[in-house]
Amino acid sequence: MSIKTIGVLTSGGDSPGMNAAVRAVVRTAIEKGIAVKGVMRGYTGLIENDIVDLNLRSVSDIIHRGGTMLYSARCPEFSESDVQDKAVEVCKEFGLDGIVTIGGDGTFKGARALTLKGVPCIGIPGTIDNDISSCDYTIGYDTALNTVMDMVDRIRDTTESHDRCSIVEVMGRNAGYLALNAGIAVGATCILIPEIDYDIDSYIIERMKRTQKTGKEHFVIVVAEGVKGIDVNSLAKYIEQKTGVESRATILGHVQRGGSPSVRDRVLASQMGFYAVQLLKEDVGNRVVVVKNDKIVDYDIIEALNMKKSIDPELYRIANEISI
Ligand code: ADP
Ligand code: F6P
Repeated sequence: MSIKTIGVLTSGGDSPGMNAAVRAVVRTAIEKGIAVKGVMRGYTGLIENDIVDLNLRSVSDIIHRGGTMLYSARCPEFSESDVQDKAVEVCKEFGLDGIVTIGGDGTFKGARALTLKGVPCIGIPGTIDNDISSCDYTIGYDTALNTVMDMVDRIRDTTESHDRCSIVEVMGRNAGYLALNAGIAVGATCILIPEIDYDIDSYIIERMKRTQKTGKEHFVIVVAEGVKGIDVNSLAKYIEQKTGVESRATILGHVQRGGSPSVRDRVLASQMGFYAVQLLKEDVGNRVVVVKNDKIVDYDIIEALNMKKSIDPELYRIANEISI
């Protein structure tokens, strides 16, 4: 069957660069003679018939914008088979022969379900968490890293002026990629990530006391939100009590998800959007487009979902050795 019309959607937590991916999908498809429709608010748009026509100019002036022009949503009921059947009916109604879905692992599961029910889908990884095992860098991760770095640099200024300890909580869901790499970039004294178990006294308190003896008077500690059993406000009080260093906690929050995408995210998103449409044009579905060792490649969705990725232990060792 030759593809005449495709859909594009963004789903799950948004990330900077999703717009650049949508733009690449739309422009590539139209250049190849394929019509494109935008599905609004992820899978919600597919079950609520919220689908709009897109043309070359619909995606003008979005490459530099954070967020997503197609909006995003979580649609938990999309894991139910009858809801997916309804979506397939809507695809038929709107003439969608395939869909490019931009999001994380949950989004890919939805894409696989639709493919199995006859609507070929291609997944593109978009999340600030970089927690997609098959992919080295997800769209939005680089921008979020730079945002965290910028925010913590500001926190460091005031931390230094007051000889304080700042504990900064960063996003990442259950993964520590954002915290580890941003922590290295800001020179954090301690970095706590979910992949590693800690004893607060030996890792933070003793380390701070050791560096105090060498003349260090202000400290930045980065904590990934996924670290279990840690509340950064309580941690600040504990550190103050144990070390005598006045401490403050900051939860960076959703500022990390916004902002103009970095060069890396714009280029990656553009490459992935282009690649995804090429696959659909060749009648290939059930694939994710990822970056692996600096190359854009594609994998079967299940194969991709079953892959494992882990924090580089050497990077973590370096972080600790040079931050003392
Ligand atoms: P992400 O795509 O970033 O992992 P979510 O986990 O919220 O974010 O997933 C995005 C959406 O994908 C969900 O809101 C839901 O609509 C859909 N989804 C998640 N899991 C499944 C599943 N097992 N089957 C079908 N669709 C799913
Ligand atoms: O997956 C992106 C992310 O920002 C995570 O880092 C965070 O845990 C989560 O989404 C927050 O979700 P919400 O926007 O629903 O608060």
